[in-house]
Amino acid sequence: MAVPLDAIMAFHNAFRNDLKRIDAAALESARGKAGLAPTIERFRFFNEMLVWHAHGEEQAVFPRLETVAPLVAEAYLKDHHGLDAAYDTLNAAYTAQDPLQTARATAAFKFHLDIHLAKEDTHLYRIFRERISLPEQGKAVGIMAGMVPQPRVPEVVGWLFPLIGWEDRMNMVHIYQSMMPPPAFAGMKGLIQKAIPGDWAELVRRIPTLEGK
Ligand SMILES: [Fe+2]
Repeated sequence: MAVPLDAIMAFHNAFRNDLKRIDAAALESARGKAGLAPTIERFRFFNEMLVWHAHGEEQAVFPRLETVAPLVAEAYLKDHHGLDAAYDTLNAAYTAQDPLQTARATAAFKFHLDIHLAKEDTHLYRIFRERISLPEQGKAVGIMAGMVPQPRVPEVVGWLFPLIGWEDRMNMVHIYQSMMPPPAFAGMKGLIQKAIPGDWAELVRRIPTLEGK
Protein backbone atom coordinates (compact mmCIF):
# COMPACT_ATOMS: atom_id res chain seq x y z
CA MET A 1 0.00 0.00 0.00
CA ALA A 2 1.50 3.30 -1.12
CA VAL A 3 1.76 6.18 1.36
CA PRO A 4 2.14 9.84 0.32
CA LEU A 5 5.85 9.93 1.19
CA ASP A 6 6.46 7.29 -1.48
CA ALA A 7 5.90 10.08 -4.02
CA ILE A 8 8.87 11.97 -2.58
CA MET A 9 10.99 8.80 -2.74
CA ALA A 10 10.01 8.33 -6.40
CA PHE A 11 11.15 11.87 -7.22
CA HIS A 12 14.41 11.27 -5.36
CA ASN A 13 15.03 8.19 -7.52
CA ALA A 14 14.28 10.17 -10.68
CA PHE A 15 16.74 12.88 -9.62
CA ARG A 16 19.45 10.28 -9.03
CA ASN A 17 18.85 8.57 -12.37
CA ASP A 18 18.69 11.75 -14.40
CA LEU A 19 21.87 13.22 -12.97
CA LYS A 20 23.65 9.87 -13.34
CA ARG A 21 22.89 9.95 -17.09
CA ILE A 22 23.80 13.62 -17.41
CA ASP A 23 27.11 13.05 -15.60
CA ALA A 24 27.96 9.99 -17.74
CA ALA A 25 27.27 12.01 -20.90
CA ALA A 26 29.37 14.94 -19.66
CA LEU A 27 32.30 12.59 -19.01
CA GLU A 28 32.03 11.00 -22.46
CA SER A 29 31.77 14.45 -24.02
CA ALA A 30 34.92 15.60 -22.20
CA ARG A 31 36.65 12.53 -23.64
CA GLY A 32 35.73 13.75 -27.11
CA LYS A 33 32.51 11.93 -27.95
CA ALA A 34 30.12 14.01 -30.05
CA GLY A 35 26.33 14.27 -30.07
CA LEU A 36 25.74 14.25 -26.31
CA ALA A 37 24.50 17.83 -25.95
CA PRO A 38 20.80 16.85 -25.71
CA THR A 39 21.55 14.55 -22.76
CA ILE A 40 23.83 17.02 -21.00
CA GLU A 41 21.38 19.87 -21.52
CA ARG A 42 18.81 17.94 -19.52
CA PHE A 43 20.54 19.54 -16.53
CA ARG A 44 18.45 22.68 -17.03
CA PHE A 45 15.05 20.98 -16.70
CA PHE A 46 16.50 18.65 -14.08
CA ASN A 47 17.41 21.66 -11.97
CA GLU A 48 14.05 23.31 -12.47
CA MET A 49 12.48 20.15 -11.05
CA LEU A 50 15.00 20.04 -8.22
CA VAL A 51 14.28 23.64 -7.24
CA TRP A 52 10.49 23.04 -7.15
CA HIS A 53 11.12 19.94 -5.08
CA ALA A 54 13.49 21.67 -2.65
CA HIS A 55 11.19 24.67 -2.22
CA GLY A 56 8.32 22.28 -1.58
CA GLU A 57 10.33 20.57 1.13
CA GLU A 58 11.28 23.90 2.63
CA GLN A 59 7.67 25.07 2.74
CA ALA A 60 5.79 21.88 3.58
CA VAL A 61 8.17 19.41 5.20
CA PHE A 62 10.88 21.29 7.07
CA PRO A 63 8.62 23.58 9.18
CA ARG A 64 6.44 20.60 10.15
CA LEU A 65 9.53 18.58 11.08
CA GLU A 66 10.81 21.47 13.19
CA THR A 67 7.84 20.98 15.57
CA VAL A 68 8.79 17.37 16.36
CA ALA A 69 12.58 17.40 15.78
CA PRO A 70 13.99 20.90 16.28
CA LEU A 71 17.14 21.95 14.37
CA VAL A 72 17.25 18.88 12.10
CA ALA A 73 16.02 20.57 8.93
CA GLU A 74 18.52 23.42 9.16
CA ALA A 75 21.33 21.19 7.88
CA TYR A 76 19.21 20.13 4.92
CA LEU A 77 18.46 23.73 4.00
CA LYS A 78 22.20 24.32 3.84
CA ASP A 79 22.45 21.29 1.55
CA HIS A 80 19.83 22.83 -0.74
CA HIS A 81 21.92 25.99 -1.00
CA GLY A 82 24.88 23.76 -1.88
CA LEU A 83 22.81 22.20 -4.68
CA ASP A 84 22.00 25.70 -5.97
CA ALA A 85 25.72 26.51 -6.01
CA ALA A 86 26.49 23.23 -7.81
CA TYR A 87 23.97 24.16 -10.48
CA ASP A 88 25.43 27.65 -10.92
CA THR A 89 28.91 26.17 -11.40
CA LEU A 90 27.63 23.65 -13.94
CA ASN A 91 25.60 26.24 -15.80
CA ALA A 92 28.62 28.58 -16.04
CA ALA A 93 30.89 25.77 -17.31
CA TYR A 94 28.38 24.58 -19.90
CA THR A 95 27.61 28.12 -21.08
CA ALA A 96 31.36 28.74 -21.48
CA GLN A 97 31.46 25.56 -23.67
CA ASP A 98 34.16 24.06 -21.47
CA PRO A 99 33.64 20.25 -21.60
CA LEU A 100 36.23 19.47 -18.92
CA GLN A 101 34.82 21.94 -16.41
CA THR A 102 31.32 20.76 -17.31
CA ALA A 103 32.24 17.16 -16.49
CA ARG A 104 33.90 18.22 -13.23
CA ALA A 105 30.76 20.20 -12.36
CA THR A 106 28.32 17.35 -13.08
CA ALA A 107 30.49 15.00 -10.99
CA ALA A 108 30.51 17.41 -8.05
CA PHE A 109 26.76 18.05 -8.42
CA LYS A 110 26.07 14.29 -8.47
CA PHE A 111 28.27 13.60 -5.45
CA HIS A 112 26.48 16.23 -3.39
CA LEU A 113 23.00 15.24 -4.62
CA ASP A 114 23.53 11.54 -3.87
CA ILE A 115 24.70 12.21 -0.33
CA HIS A 116 21.93 14.74 0.27
CA LEU A 117 19.17 12.40 -0.95
CA ALA A 118 20.59 9.42 0.95
CA LYS A 119 20.56 11.51 4.14
CA GLU A 120 17.00 12.66 3.50
CA ASP A 121 15.77 9.12 2.79
CA THR A 122 17.40 7.47 5.80
CA HIS A 123 17.39 10.31 8.33
CA LEU A 124 15.14 13.31 7.67
CA TYR A 125 12.22 11.36 6.17
CA ARG A 126 12.66 8.57 8.69
CA ILE A 127 11.98 11.09 11.47
CA PHE A 128 9.13 12.60 9.44
CA ARG A 129 7.57 9.18 8.90
CA GLU A 130 7.88 8.19 12.55
CA ARG A 131 6.73 11.41 14.19
CA ILE A 132 4.21 12.99 11.80
CA SER A 133 0.73 11.55 11.37
CA LEU A 134 -0.22 10.02 8.01
CA PRO A 135 -2.86 12.71 7.22
CA GLU A 136 -0.28 15.42 7.95
CA GLN A 137 2.22 13.63 5.69
CA GLY A 138 -0.42 13.64 2.96
CA LYS A 139 -1.00 17.35 3.45
CA ALA A 140 2.73 18.06 3.08
CA VAL A 141 2.98 16.04 -0.12
CA GLY A 142 -0.10 17.85 -1.47
CA ILE A 143 1.56 21.22 -0.85
CA MET A 144 4.72 19.99 -2.60
CA ALA A 145 2.73 18.80 -5.61
CA GLY A 146 1.13 22.24 -5.77
CA MET A 147 4.56 23.87 -6.20
CA VAL A 148 4.52 22.86 -9.88
CA PRO A 149 2.61 25.42 -11.97
CA GLN A 150 -0.40 23.65 -13.53
CA PRO A 151 0.64 24.19 -17.19
CA ARG A 152 3.98 22.49 -16.48
CA VAL A 153 2.47 19.28 -15.04
CA PRO A 154 2.63 17.40 -18.39
CA GLU A 155 6.38 18.07 -18.60
CA VAL A 156 6.86 16.85 -15.04
CA VAL A 157 5.03 13.56 -15.69
CA GLY A 158 6.88 13.19 -19.00
CA TRP A 159 10.16 13.61 -17.15
CA LEU A 160 9.34 11.47 -14.09
CA PHE A 161 7.89 8.22 -15.40
CA PRO A 162 10.66 7.18 -17.80
CA LEU A 163 13.21 7.74 -15.01
CA ILE A 164 11.65 5.53 -12.33
CA GLY A 165 11.18 1.78 -11.88
CA TRP A 166 7.99 -0.23 -11.63
CA GLU A 167 7.55 0.06 -7.89
CA ASP A 168 7.79 3.85 -7.98
CA ARG A 169 5.49 4.02 -11.02
CA MET A 170 2.87 1.92 -9.27
CA ASN A 171 3.17 3.96 -6.09
CA MET A 172 2.73 7.20 -8.06
CA VAL A 173 -0.39 5.87 -9.81
CA HIS A 174 -1.91 4.79 -6.49
CA ILE A 175 -1.10 8.15 -4.89
CA TYR A 176 -2.59 10.12 -7.82
CA GLN A 177 -5.60 7.81 -7.77
CA SER A 178 -6.22 8.43 -4.07
CA MET A 179 -5.52 12.19 -4.10
CA MET A 180 -7.16 13.36 -7.34
CA PRO A 181 -10.83 13.64 -8.28
CA PRO A 182 -11.73 11.18 -11.10
CA PRO A 183 -11.75 13.72 -13.99
CA ALA A 184 -8.31 15.00 -13.02
CA PHE A 185 -7.03 11.46 -12.63
CA ALA A 186 -8.32 10.62 -16.13
CA GLY A 187 -6.16 13.43 -17.48
CA MET A 188 -3.20 12.19 -15.45
CA LYS A 189 -3.63 8.70 -16.91
CA GLY A 190 -3.30 10.16 -20.40
CA LEU A 191 -0.11 11.95 -19.43
CA ILE A 192 1.41 8.79 -17.95
CA GLN A 193 0.53 6.77 -21.03
CA LYS A 194 2.20 9.41 -23.19
CA ALA A 195 5.29 9.39 -20.95
CA ILE A 196 5.86 5.62 -21.15
CA PRO A 197 4.06 4.42 -24.30
CA GLY A 198 6.10 1.21 -24.52
CA ASP A 199 5.46 0.29 -20.89
CA TRP A 200 1.81 1.34 -20.65
CA ALA A 201 0.37 -2.13 -21.33
CA GLU A 202 2.55 -3.57 -18.57
CA LEU A 203 1.44 -0.83 -16.15
CA VAL A 204 -2.22 -1.62 -16.88
CA ARG A 205 -1.47 -5.31 -16.37
CA ARG A 206 0.00 -4.48 -12.97
CA ILE A 207 -2.82 -2.04 -12.04
CA PRO A 208 -5.99 -3.37 -13.70
CA THR A 209 -8.08 -0.42 -12.41
CA LEU A 210 -6.26 1.73 -14.99
CA GLU A 211 -8.27 0.05 -17.70
CA GLY A 212 -11.29 1.86 -19.14
CA LYS A 213 -12.14 5.45 -18.38
FE1 LIG B 1 16.02 17.99 -0.16
